[in-house]
Amino acid sequence: MNKWNHRHIIDLANFSQRDYTSVLELTHRFRSLPQSGARKLPALQGRLVATLFFEPSTRTRSSFELAARKLSADVQTFNPSSSSLNKGETTIDTALTYVAMGADVLVVRHRSTNVPAQLAAALEDAGKRTTVLNAGDGLHSHPSQGLLDLYTLAHHFDPLNPSPICLQNKKILIVGDILHSRVARSNLWAITACGADVILCGPPSLVPKDFQAFVEAPPPGLGPDPIRKRGKIEIEHKLEKALPKADAVMALRLQQERMRENLLSDIDRYQRDYGLNHEKLNLCKQPIPVLHPGPVNRGIEISSSLLEDRSICLVEEQVRNGIPTRMALLYLMAASESAT
Ligand code: CP
Repeated sequence: MNKWNHRHIIDLANFSQRDYTSVLELTHRFRSLPQSGARKLPALQGRLVATLFFEPSTRTRSSFELAARKLSADVQTFNPSSSSLNKGETTIDTALTYVAMGADVLVVRHRSTNVPAQLAAALEDAGKRTTVLNAGDGLHSHPSQGLLDLYTLAHHFDPLNPSPICLQNKKILIVGDILHSRVARSNLWAITACGADVILCGPPSLVPKDFQAFVEAPPPGLGPDPIRKRGKIEIEHKLEKALPKADAVMALRLQQERMRENLLSDIDRYQRDYGLNHEKLNLCKQPIPVLHPGPVNRGIEISSSLLEDRSICLVEEQVRNGIPTRMALLYLMAASESAT
């Protein structure tokens, strides 16, 4: 296994080709383990993983907790609605409380961009060894989702050897609310790093022009881009023009809870223009898989019948792959921690 240099996982903008290879290799190994029965790996025995979700989640929190347990870690779940946040305690002080109780890993989701990064910096300043895994912050980043989507795509293209190379020269279409999507941002870093091009599609209000240059400059503080040559990003507002070029399509949820202005006045029209269904997929040159990170607005982003068509739709597969992907991340972080 390649050397792992990430003490915290906040963003995919600073992931190298070797990092993607390590995560996909390990995910594939963990995915091949029997899923049922009491068998656990001892890798995280004696470690405490705390899941601090200040924003709702079904998939990410549960799969991080299952992943941690499968690696024999102890797991502590934080429930914001019954916590001392309601008495005025800050997010950072809440997190530091879990560190004081012995947490080795904090898995953090927050509605505000940069909370996981601020927390990681606070821990470094305090000389703590606890690591932070970003489970989704505001519009910024959702690295474990980007990695499980990458694994799902690679596995679709080469089920026996799902590696970053499987995506080379492919075109991945991402359709929907790009503007508010941290999943889209993490996927842009991951997919272009593997040499695939991305087509972003949706109404102009949800797919601003500046996304075309999204991967050209890593965010401040992350250093130079470790990827020598990335795939390109193209914007196409008409789905019927984008679909014939795509090797896979990922629909994204309309994030109405994050829309501050009336960016979308007509949901029926959105569904007509950008909702995926079997009929629209007939525009593709060949059968292509459909992904969605979930939760799905059923019948809006994807028709019910397409969502339930397991021969095309990989949504369940993505959920399943979330567990071994998160096992891989926890394992790599624990391994790097033991080495330091
Ligand atoms: N995809 C995703 O982050 O889902 P949850 O909000 O259910 O965790």
